[in-house]
Amino acid sequence: MVNIAVFASGNGSNAVNLVKTFNSGSRIRVALCLTDKENAPVMEKMQALGVPAQYVARSVWKNEPQKVIDILRAHDIEIIALAGFLCFIDESIVKAYEGKILNIHPSLLPAYGGRGMHGANVHKAVIEAGEVKSGATVHIVTNEIDAGPIVVQRCVTVLPEDTPETLEAKVHEVEYDIFPEAVMKIINATAEPPAMPKSVDDDWAETLGVPNDIPPVETTPPEMPKPEAGPQAPFAPFTPGSPSPAPASAPDAASQEPMPPTYLAWAVVTMVLCCFIPGIVAVVNSSKVSSRYYAGDYEGARRASRNAEIWIIITFVLGVIFNTLYLPLSIAGMF
Ligand code: GAR
Repeated sequence: MVNIAVFASGNGSNAVNLVKTFNSGSRIRVALCLTDKENAPVMEKMQALGVPAQYVARSVWKNEPQKVIDILRAHDIEIIALAGFLCFIDESIVKAYEGKILNIHPSLLPAYGGRGMHGANVHKAVIEAGEVKSGATVHIVTNEIDAGPIVVQRCVTVLPEDTPETLEAKVHEVEYDIFPEAVMKIINATAEPPAMPKSVDDDWAETLGVPNDIPPVETTPPEMPKPEAGPQAPFAPFTPGSPSPAPASAPDAASQEPMPPTYLAWAVVTMVLCCFIPGIVAVVNSSKVSSRYYAGDYEGARRASRNAEIWIIITFVLGVIFNTLYLPLSIAGMF
């Protein structure tokens, strides 16, 4: 839980808005309100919302700032939100909460900021200057008035008919959005990164009460195999959990032996003997069938037809025999 303290001097509508935004959640809460005005309306409002509110005299703020720091520490305050706080904040408080004190200002800083510029004075000055836009700024408090780094800033349009009161109402609406937003930003920015989980070695060292000087095991991810140059190995399916399959050996172009010339000669011979010659004989005989038939030589046509059939069968059988035997016989080194 991050505890916020709100410092306010007046009405306290921003303080109320912060309480309503955060106090119903479990991460951030307004845990304290400090004021420099004994009867400021904000006191009653905070008490009604169940937030401890305390009056601290201006002399204490000025001369005994450590007392303020002590009150803040007693409430475990981490962030301070100045919501219409018109009292001087001592350097020691700024230092104790460096970067964690936010102020809301009713203008587009750096315009209309600085000494004397607060609340209605700002809106009056904006309208008198004929500005067409104004707005609100949340910034980090430093030792210079209204000059710290801006956390969130938002515009409103100033219309010709606007009065300081109507402009104030518009700016307030914007303030109710940007103040919680800025608080969240600061909290998120200052949040510590989550602690690393303890190792088993750390746990044992703690149990035994000895220092753990075992260096952590370095785990380097396995190196990805680099793709081989040359012809790609055929794809081998990978099953999760099993070791990566070794790439199937693909013939390497450089190491591949040239085909012996006898292989080529035998291929040509078998093709001519088994397919080409018997095929030609079969074609010649089948062409004789029709010519003899139309010449009225029915007996010759029948013979040619039978011869064609025989040669087709011979072509088929020789083709099958030589082509199926050629490969195993050549591998066995017989050719
Ligand atoms: C707010 O508009 C705030 O910006 C302004 O006082 C008003 C307080 O209103 N602060 C300053 O002018 C600081 N220089 P609230 O009391 O209703 O929250």
